[in-house]
This record gives sequence, C-alpha cells and structure tokens, in this order.
Amino acid sequence: MPQVLVEPGQEDIDIPSRRVLITGATGLLGRAVFKEFNENNWNAVGCGYRRAQPKFEQVNLLNSVAVHDIIHDFQPHVIVHCAAERRPDVVESQPDAASQLNVAASGNLAKEAAGIGAFLIYISTDYVFDGTSPPYKETDVPNPLNLYGKTKLEGEKAVLENNEGAAVLRIPVLYGEVERLEESAVTVMFDKVQFSNKSANMDHWQQRFPTNVKDVAVVCRQLAEKRMLDPSIKGTFHWSGNEQMTKYEMACAIADAFNLPSSHLRPITDCPVVGALRPRNAQLDCSKLEMLGIGQRTPFRAGIKESLWPFLIDKRWRQTVFH
Ligand SMILES: NC(=O)c1ccc[n+]([C@@H]2O[C@H](COP(=O)([O-])OP(=O)(O)OC[C@H]3O[C@@H](n4cnc5c(N)ncnc54)[C@H](OP(=O)(O)O)[C@@H]3O)[C@@H](O)[C@H]2O)c1
Repeated sequence: MPQVLVEPGQEDIDIPSRRVLITGATGLLGRAVFKEFNENNWNAVGCGYRRAQPKFEQVNLLNSVAVHDIIHDFQPHVIVHCAAERRPDVVESQPDAASQLNVAASGNLAKEAAGIGAFLIYISTDYVFDGTSPPYKETDVPNPLNLYGKTKLEGEKAVLENNEGAAVLRIPVLYGEVERLEESAVTVMFDKVQFSNKSANMDHWQQRFPTNVKDVAVVCRQLAEKRMLDPSIKGTFHWSGNEQMTKYEMACAIADAFNLPSSHLRPITDCPVVGALRPRNAQLDCSKLEMLGIGQRTPFRAGIKESLWPFLIDKRWRQTVFH
C-alpha cells in the first residue's frame, strides 16, 4: 500500500508532504535515488518488478493499468524513472522486449505523470551520441550507434511528446554499492583486478567517465527541488563524473585504491570487435546543470573503494583497516 495513506490514529506521524515515486528502485541507480529522497524529507515510494518484495511496490511497467493505479493512489509530485533494460548486448538479442520497456512504457508513464501534473525525470544515457565529437551539449544532435542507445533516445522522445514539462537526464557509465559485482560495468572488473596471478586484457580504446550513483541521486533530488520552485526547469540535462578513464585505467585505479598489483592487466588499444557498437568518447558537457548550482562529484578512487571493499577477497585487509 503506498505510504501516503494515513491509518486512523496515526495522524501525528510526521509524513513528509513532498511525494516522489521511483521506478527501477531495486536497480543500481534506483536504490541510490530512493535513499537520497527518503533521507531528505521526501515521502518516497519505490517500484521494482522481480526484486520488489518486501521493500518496494511490485509494478510491471508494461501493465498500463498497474501504472495508472499506483500513480493515482500515491499522487506523486515527482517521478524518477530509472527502470530500463540497460545492457546493450541484451537489447540487441531481445529488441522487442527492450523497446517495450525503454520506449513504450516510458511514454505511458510520461502520459500518466502529465495527467496528475507530476514532474517526471527520465534517466537516459550518453550512448545517444556516436562519440565522434565530444564533449556533447544537450543541444547537440544525437546519433546512437547501438540499439540500446536508439531505444533510450526513442524513450526520450516518447517522454517529451507525452509530457512537455518532463526532464531527460543523460548520464554515463555508473558504479556504486552493488549487490553483485556484475551489476555495474565498472565493478565487474574487480575480480580480474584481484586475481593477479592471471593476466587480463582490458579495453583501453573507449573513453569513459565513471559516475557514482550517489552523485546522480543528488542531482535528481536537487533538480526536483528546483523544479518545485521554478516551473521553467524542464527539458534535457547532462550529468557526469569528470575523470576520463578507459576500462584499463579504471582497473589500475581500483588496484591502486586497494594497494593491489596491476602488472597483470593488459591495455587493449584496438576498437572492440565483439558485442554491440560503442561510442569512442561520448563525454557529456554538464555546464547547464552546473550553472543552476546542481551537482556533486565523488572522486573515483574514494567512491570505488567504498563500493568494492565488501567484495575484497583478502579479508585480512578488512581486519587490518577496520579493527
Ligand atoms: N548502469 C549504467 O551504467 C547506466 C549508464 C547510463 C545510463 N543508465 C540508465 O540509468 C537507468 C538505471 O540503470 P541501472 O543500471 O540502475 O539499471 P538496473 O540496475 O539494470 O535496474 C533495472 C531496473 O528496471 C526494473 N525493471 C525491469 N523490467 C521491469 C518491468 N517490466 N517493470 C518494472 N520495472 C522493471 C528492474 O526491476 P527488478 O530488478 O525488480 O525486476 C530494476 O529495478 C536506466 O535508465 C539506464 O538506461 C545506466
């Protein structure tokens, strides 16, 4: 049951008056967004699907009746739409299912948000750009190279067509507190870094800007709070970490953060030939949000250390540091 309803006799419980609904609240970014709003005087309700129970509402975003019901029951002022199929190789292999979630469900959510006057933030990606002429401003023309980028761009259009007051927030590769190392393209490298007796090839071709989910969550909350005061806050925005790194450089930084060897890591400078096409450098220009006084950037080494230490194989390190 959404938290807006107050049981008889509980009127004195202090429920924040600002309501936010977060889709994809069971996912990497959504968990951080839920926490950020919840800890900052918002009444936050999170939705998930397969992992929803017991903390979140279970809502299949492909079910338009369920989406209509939760939005009308909860009456959020803000919706942060984090749910998506975000794995490029999965999108290539299951294009129809990915398009249903990334495009059709996003358009429907935008229409429902417009129906009750809620401010919708649609999370998009730097993969809408082809990566040939960075840095990219919000006004630059997108040209996605892979189907994932195409579905996310179509999702942006479906959102803005159905809700002219909505915001699109484009972000690059994410990392943060993961449930499993495979949850993020950054944290997944940790085992290769740790198993230093085995040499490991690491991409040194694609330029990335690893971004901490906590920082994106702060940006979402700040954007929502600014919009509550200023209805002209809408349209497309970019947010990104500002440390440019290839995966090889990220892996070396991870090794460095944990005092581990990195000589077994091998930089591969050729363009990858397997999997979906990736942009070489889709750096996002974030000056529009910066001019609004919005943003937070956690240094990569500090953020990745905080995210990865529970997965450290050498428990002696933990004992030395924490006891
Ligand atoms: N991860 C990145 O590096 C990255 C980079 C740039 C942009 N983005 C964008 O950031 C957003 C968040 O990404 P993420 O990494 O946090 O994704 P994620 O960890 O893969 O989470 C995906 C979320 O979508 C939910 N979901 C899937 N199918 C659903 C359905 N039919 N109905 C309702 N919910 C459904 C999942 O719920 P259950 O697990 O409970 O089923 C989960 O909460 C996405 O829009 C993505 O495109 C991500």
